[in-house]
Amino acid sequence: MDVEGLSGKATLETVTDMRRWTDALFSFKTTRPKDYRFSAGQYARLGLPSGEGILWRAYSIVSAPHEDYLEYYGVLVPGGAFTAILKDIEPGDTLWTDKQSFGFMTPERFADGDDLWMLATGTGLGPFVSILRDALVWKKFRRLIVVHCVKHAAEFGYQEQLLSMRGEHRSDDAELTIIQCVTREPPTGPLQLTGRITTLLYDGQLEQAAGIPMTVESSRIMLCGNPEMIEETRRILHQRGMRPCRRALPGQFVTENYW
Ligand SMILES: Cc1cc2nc3c(=O)[nH]c(=O)nc-3n(C[C@H](O)[C@H](O)[C@H](O)COP(=O)(O)OP(=O)(O)OC[C@H]3O[C@@H](n4cnc5c(N)ncnc54)[C@H](O)[C@@H]3O)c2cc1C
Ligand SMILES: NC(=O)c1ccc[n+]([C@@H]2O[C@H](COP(=O)([O-])OP(=O)(O)OC[C@H]3O[C@@H](n4cnc5c(N)ncnc54)[C@H](OP(=O)(O)O)[C@@H]3O)[C@@H](O)[C@H]2O)c1
Repeated sequence: MDVEGLSGKATLETVTDMRRWTDALFSFKTTRPKDYRFSAGQYARLGLPSGEGILWRAYSIVSAPHEDYLEYYGVLVPGGAFTAILKDIEPGDTLWTDKQSFGFMTPERFADGDDLWMLATGTGLGPFVSILRDALVWKKFRRLIVVHCVKHAAEFGYQEQLLSMRGEHRSDDAELTIIQCVTREPPTGPLQLTGRITTLLYDGQLEQAAGIPMTVESSRIMLCGNPEMIEETRRILHQRGMRPCRRALPGQFVTENYW
């Protein structure tokens, strides 16, 4: 392993906290280099030694840009080379962190809009937690709607943290709505919907649950997680006259595929 070569592009950070939500879902925190810069919604590249080299994988940052640590939300992928190592990390262990941050799924991409919809499957919720921990979206939008879709209700990570955010903001800040969707068991609470994001968007249930329509004029949408969910949602949004944000062209949605 060429550690000398690596130190030009990455820093070795120490794990300071590990939280296990289920057998497969976990969150961990690491130290943050003083000069590490990122915007809420971006991701880091993490490196772990494996055999002769370092394995690198992208991880969305869950902590906010003003916090002095880096936090991530991960799922153990059966047979996955990186998560096979990552699942066992404990406080005191180290991992490499690329000095650069990456990604374009940030709220700054939207030039206008009243309502920000954040649609996530699984660990795709992570960047939205970072975005909500940052003050910007609470001032920029009137309504913030988080939609989190998981297979089983036990996989709703960060829900208490999201709920508590509602009480932490001023009355003239945006209003936060949290919609939980569960696909492989009956809903366990009155505020849960049954079904995939795509189905619930297509048949109008998401808008009904949020109490507002999704429109070209007022809605801005972020999609994160499962690439098939993103592709299918993209098609539905296109049918509604919405377009992705491009470098020079304002649009209604931005996306981040996890694989
Ligand atoms: C921009 C970006 C951001 C990412 N952010 C995160 C993150 O915040 N948290 C996270 O857990 N992963 C995230 N990933 C995925 C992550 O980089 C790895 O793919 C994941 O850790 C699995 O690595 P692996 O080597 O164990 O398996 P891999 O060989 O990399 O993946 C094997 C398969 O596992 C499935 N898979 C991978 N990641 C996920 C996931 N998160 N949820 C559901 N299925 C998955 C896919 O089917 C994939 O083909 C992100 C990926 C990208 C491109
Ligand atoms: N999450 C866990 O606790 C857990 C436990 C054991 C293993 N794993 C492994 O971790 C990996 C990721 O699992 P995950 O459940 O976090 O992620 P996922 O497979 O992306 O599923 C997350 C949610 O996205 C939905 N979804 C899948 N495809 C979709 C599509 N095309 N359109 C709309 N929605 C779609 C799923 O609905 P459907 O249910 O309808 O597919 C599910 O509700 C898998 O390899 C899994 O085997 C996870």
